[in-house]
Amino acid sequence: MNGDKSREPAPQRAPALRGPVTSVIDGAPVTGGHTLPSTNPARLDEVVGEVSFGDASTFAHAAESAKKAQEEWAAIPAPIRGRAVAHIGRLIEGNAEALARLVTAEIGKPYGEALGEVREIIDTCDFFLGEGRRLYGQTVPSEMPDKQLFTFRRPVGTVAVITAGNFPVAVPAWYIVPALLAGNTVVWKPAEYAGVTSAVFHELFVRGGGLPDGVFNVVHADGAATFSGLQQSLEGGLVDKVGFTGSSAVGREIGGLTGRYLQTACLELGGKNPLLVTPSADLDLAVEGALFSGFGTAGQRCTSLGTVIVHESVHEQFLTRFNAAVAGARVGDPTQDVLMGPMLDKKFADRFEEFLDWVQPHHAVQAAYGKITKDNPRDGFVGDPSTGLYYHPMVVDGVRRGDRIFMEETFGPIVGVTTYQSFNEAIELANAPGYGLSSSIYTTDPKEAFTFRDKIGAGMVSINNSTSGAEAHLPFGGNGKSGNGSRQSGIWVLDQFTRWQAMNWDYSGRLQKAQMDVVELTPDTTFRI
Ligand code: UN1
Repeated sequence: MNGDKSREPAPQRAPALRGPVTSVIDGAPVTGGHTLPSTNPARLDEVVGEVSFGDASTFAHAAESAKKAQEEWAAIPAPIRGRAVAHIGRLIEGNAEALARLVTAEIGKPYGEALGEVREIIDTCDFFLGEGRRLYGQTVPSEMPDKQLFTFRRPVGTVAVITAGNFPVAVPAWYIVPALLAGNTVVWKPAEYAGVTSAVFHELFVRGGGLPDGVFNVVHADGAATFSGLQQSLEGGLVDKVGFTGSSAVGREIGGLTGRYLQTACLELGGKNPLLVTPSADLDLAVEGALFSGFGTAGQRCTSLGTVIVHESVHEQFLTRFNAAVAGARVGDPTQDVLMGPMLDKKFADRFEEFLDWVQPHHAVQAAYGKITKDNPRDGFVGDPSTGLYYHPMVVDGVRRGDRIFMEETFGPIVGVTTYQSFNEAIELANAPGYGLSSSIYTTDPKEAFTFRDKIGAGMVSINNSTSGAEAHLPFGGNGKSGNGSRQSGIWVLDQFTRWQAMNWDYSGRLQKAQMDVVELTPDTTFRI
């Protein structure tokens, strides 16, 4: 994350949990359902908490509760809802370190990064607390006299938010804060492997905001139950908007489902984010950016670096320095000052093993790769690798267009490297995988920077900065396989959670017909000087 928080004092343990985590609907815990432990990926024998999972009907029940609560919530004046957001931000700030420790314990994100992630919630609240006093509409002139036009933002209604666990608190906040602020009520389905963190997040929001029952419901459920619960809820008219962060494959399904109910989901999907290194680049800066975006969060961000596309004239120099930086990076116990901790969860470790099979004979893997074990050790590992889901950071040189490693998102600590000759070829390579979330170029040539900005398909472009580390008040989102054009964050996300209503008020006392009853001025178009 942004800023160097990794030097903060190392945390000890995550806060103790008061009991098993359950779904919370209409302010009440939902008992029953099957319970599973959520474990620490850095110390697999440590159970962070027990999570009780519901089914499709739990989800539909939550949507019903949200629907019931929505009108009253929307009737609370927006500035007061803004105050609720302000208080949530302050409460999160007061609990920042404890929440970050929990993030570290449950998903293995290094503590410095986890603290940055918590900061992102506070930034989002800081941005939206004032929006309650804006939520501007417009006054617009009419084409007829004695008539006035207006626009209003109206809440969409009930919002279903389904999020991944790689950013278990920041990304949910990107949806939930503006959704609540705009007068919507929420059903949130967090990632199964981040249930405990999600429960604490939910409690902080409800308590901090003083949210009435039913305004913010949380449902713990697996993907299949969520999907069918969502379908039921859409069918019953209980959900008016879906926000989804996750894989492109599931995004397609959600987009298809919502489309059938004439809804557009806000989709934030995968990425294969390119980083171009041009001959004029500051190579050390590029190496630093590639290291952070390739291996921060163990490469499990949607903004993680996919492929370095480096000019052939600086390929060798870049690769030598990059390999040295990767070899020297601190990997290990995420409660310590490390660049990279474990994989988020066993599911991701297992899938990462599959990506390792994508290495082909024409690839050159720069160092040991795969799971870090006693027999496959990593120099300088911080802690004991055998306790958790630790993998070597991996640089694969010689990837080519068409290789799976080049074309598909590989969620995990793996960075491909390829070369280019002409700038046009570099841009073509950068766009070839068909995603379009984040991108980066290292150059000192303004023409290259602006041409890249113009030609790259990505929704986000970094110049001399890594692909990760978006700030909370710029539009966040992608194109192609990375999303359907929706944008989160800043003022832009308001278009996801409000709908424009147009009003006209004719006070002339007669029917004035638009386009027909309009005054025409007579121009003299034949006049010449
Ligand atoms: C994500 O991985 O879903 O830009 C979000 C970044 C973070 C957010 C990533 N601020 O890397």
